[in-house]
Amino acid sequence: MTSTPAITQRVQQLRNTLIKASYAYYVLDDPIMEDGVYDKLYRELQDLESQYPDLITPDSPTQRVGDKPATAFVSIPHNIPLYSLENAFGFSEFLQWQQRWLKYLNGQGIPIPSNYDYVCELKIDGSALALTYENGVLVRGVTRGDGITGEDITPNVKTIRSIPLKLHIDNPPPVLEIRGEAFLPISEFERINGERESQGLSLFANPRNAAAGTLRQLDPKIVAHRRLQFFAYTLHLPLASQWSALEYLQQIGFLVNPNRQLCQSLEEVEAYFSRWDTERRNLPYLTDGVVVKLNSFGLQEQLGFTQKFPRWAIAYKYPAEEAPTIVKEIIVNVGRTGAITPMAIMEPVQLAGTTVQRATLHNSDRVSQLDIRHGDTVIIRKAGEIIPEVVRVLTDLRPPDTEPYLMPTRCPECGSTLLRPKGEAVTRCVNSSCSAILRGSLIHWASRDALDIRGLGEKMAILLIEKGLVRSIADLYSLTSQELAQLDRMGKKSADKLVGAIADSKAQPWSRVLYGLGIRYVGGTNAKILTESFPDVERLASANVSNLASVYGIGDEIAESVYNWFQIEANRDLMQKLKEIGLQLSSRDKVTAGKFTGKSFVLTGTLPTLKRGEAQELIEKAGGKVSGSVSSKTDYVVVGESAGSKLEKAQQLGVTLLTETQLLELLDG
Ligand code: IVH
Repeated sequence: MTSTPAITQRVQQLRNTLIKASYAYYVLDDPIMEDGVYDKLYRELQDLESQYPDLITPDSPTQRVGDKPATAFVSIPHNIPLYSLENAFGFSEFLQWQQRWLKYLNGQGIPIPSNYDYVCELKIDGSALALTYENGVLVRGVTRGDGITGEDITPNVKTIRSIPLKLHIDNPPPVLEIRGEAFLPISEFERINGERESQGLSLFANPRNAAAGTLRQLDPKIVAHRRLQFFAYTLHLPLASQWSALEYLQQIGFLVNPNRQLCQSLEEVEAYFSRWDTERRNLPYLTDGVVVKLNSFGLQEQLGFTQKFPRWAIAYKYPAEEAPTIVKEIIVNVGRTGAITPMAIMEPVQLAGTTVQRATLHNSDRVSQLDIRHGDTVIIRKAGEIIPEVVRVLTDLRPPDTEPYLMPTRCPECGSTLLRPKGEAVTRCVNSSCSAILRGSLIHWASRDALDIRGLGEKMAILLIEKGLVRSIADLYSLTSQELAQLDRMGKKSADKLVGAIADSKAQPWSRVLYGLGIRYVGGTNAKILTESFPDVERLASANVSNLASVYGIGDEIAESVYNWFQIEANRDLMQKLKEIGLQLSSRDKVTAGKFTGKSFVLTGTLPTLKRGEAQELIEKAGGKVSGSVSSKTDYVVVGESAGSKLEKAQQLGVTLLTETQLLELLDG
């Protein structure tokens, strides 16, 4: 279709508004629009662009994510190499740096300026990127690589919201290169690792590795989902100084780290360094030192570079945080996927502001490499790493008569023989009825992003398994208050609550059920993608690997894992049982108008005749919405037996309560 001037204008207006809103949110940290409003305008732009593809421009906010997964990245040489920085540990090494550059100037016969200043910036622990803007529009993003050649990861770079797709310059130069650091905030790193843990994937050791790994992800959708950020720190333009370069970067739309300081003397630099050694603990991202740069670009040019480093800058590093402690015990932990992780349990020790008493030993190779033994004195480290690790064993301090630690050959929980598939680092328990695997599965099933069953945490899962009340996820749904009330420290009231919460979980949508099953690689996002393409369990269970892998966003590994899961008879039986129980194993078509249009319902407790899925279907067929929690926006709460906290909440809020009979009457009436 060809657009009209009015449409072209609307598209431009939408684009400008969205760019402004996104800049206010991601760079200025000062939102100007509600998320919902942004989403609506974004969708309008998306719709117009899909009707009139000619109107799409590379700087449109819709172009941040969209490219298909790449098969590989292309290496490209940097126009100007990306140097790294020399490190200084301690004030005396830092002083030596100053002496070196002064001496160099002397040797070159260049007079030492009577007055020079330093720019101090935090050294962000991430991954360097070089961005190229042509006529003000982002055209390329390349990793540092070895400094000479990097990888073109443009589609991934575009997903970083704090990187402008278009510079805020009226007459942009034909080509402009910007450099800076892409990084993951600590909270985002923890979220990603939490998700990976629940998918049985290996964890990222620290935010830096996670950022680097994310940037090299072939699928930009995954990159967009992991909220990377970017601080710009340099650009190639003939300006006077680093300080003015930082200000300019900020003016043209970049996020520049605000914790920078212009220092006139080494004492001031030292004060900055010490201040941030404490204050960095309150920052939402990791910094491992201070980058000190001579401010004047003229002076920088006179000093130039050695083979590897600029002479005019230094990374003044904080020491890695290490501490000695004693190993009390080495244990192995059995995860939900059966993965065995060796762990050292140690005398508690203070490290980077927290008390640490366990450290991961990763896998059996690492255990033999370290030759770690009971009673050993070890050095543990948290250098950026959030998860402490054992770096070294001080063998001189080893007590006499110790034996090398041998990894168990049998599962500590169920006694079955452990397997380590060829070529894999991980040892596994493959007994599907192992209580550790069952425990992990129950905890995952009940977790917030899955079926969200409050009151079913680790302790409860252990009790239920120990007492023989639960042998599979499906057993949860036949638990009675009487059975639960007999458990240790469980009163009638909490037993009722838990039964209610379990019953309520039947209203959770199909995508959450799929996620809750804990199939390897199927995290929250993949579960949503899969349930959009396979709207019911029958279709998903009968899909072959290539059907699965043809879904956008689903790679071969995930496809195989899902396919294999459904080939196991016990898993198919489980799905059959869950279906009979009334869990949501399909996403129903939404009805737009009916008797209940615009009305919001919540179901709680067990209804006398209708299964939860049936009640939900009836309500949705009449145009109503069924939600999982009661709020002031809820119109009706349908109450069955052993109703949980939702009933209490409804009473507090004065929401109309309905019995099953009243619900049916309303529908018939
Ligand atoms: S300036 C030629 N400034 O540290 C000067 N680097 O060890 C190049 N980094 O590869 C770097 N924050 O990835 C500079 N404020 C900052 C930085 C910074 C982090 C990283 C950068 C570089 C590495 C050098």
